[in-house]
Amino acid sequence: MIRSVRDDEVEEVLDIINDAALAYKGVIPPDCWHEPYMSREELWAEIDAGVKFWSYELECRSVGVMGRQELQKVTLIRHAYVRTGAQLRGIGAGLLAHLRQGVPQPILVGTWAAAWWAIRFYEKHGFKLVSTEEKDRLLSTYWSISPRQIETSVVLADERWFGRAL
Ligand SMILES: CC(C)(COP(=O)(O)OP(=O)(O)OC[C@H]1O[C@@H](n2cnc3c(N)ncnc32)[C@H](O)[C@@H]1OP(=O)(O)O)[C@@H](O)C(=O)NCCC(=O)NCCS
Repeated sequence: MIRSVRDDEVEEVLDIINDAALAYKGVIPPDCWHEPYMSREELWAEIDAGVKFWSYELECRSVGVMGRQELQKVTLIRHAYVRTGAQLRGIGAGLLAHLRQGVPQPILVGTWAAAWWAIRFYEKHGFKLVSTEEKDRLLSTYWSISPRQIETSVVLADERWFGRAL
């Protein structure tokens, strides 16, 4: 079952993010890694900035979360994480399909350039990498992240982004 996350479930979201984010350890640049990967304060700041989370439940337990941030011209997929023991079983795919439903504008997603599995996941669902120049512009326009994170990240966009009228 996929449902939106309530405010009193934020601790569980944090737990899933920090468990799944262990995949980045030793893969992303060492100066970008810290443990826990996300603090409670950072997560609340994201929620306050308009990121809404959905959860995938199996036997009454949340096994994955994914966020969506609707901006004026684009929608962002943010913080996609599936518990380590539950990955590669279609949970991420289910969440992504749910969050894409009814979104009328282009969808963008950012991830670490070194997270090849995440890039593969989004490509499998029709997203394509944008050029380096464009990702620099998009990450500085739509995300609030450090210059170092911009440098070490990529952006993938859906078919609506590439098919939009220029
Ligand atoms: C990326 C993530 C959200 C995908 O969720 P998931 O439930 O594991 O993914 P699904 O089972 O729906 O899809 C599996 C596909 O994702 C990709 N993938 C995800 N994790 C992978 C891994 N460890 N190794 C290889 N491919 C992987 C592959 O394309 C795979 O399909 P394929 O084997 O046929 O190529 C999840 O693996 C995760 O939390 N990873 C760690 C954190 C992360 O990278 N988050 C992304 C933030 S943007």
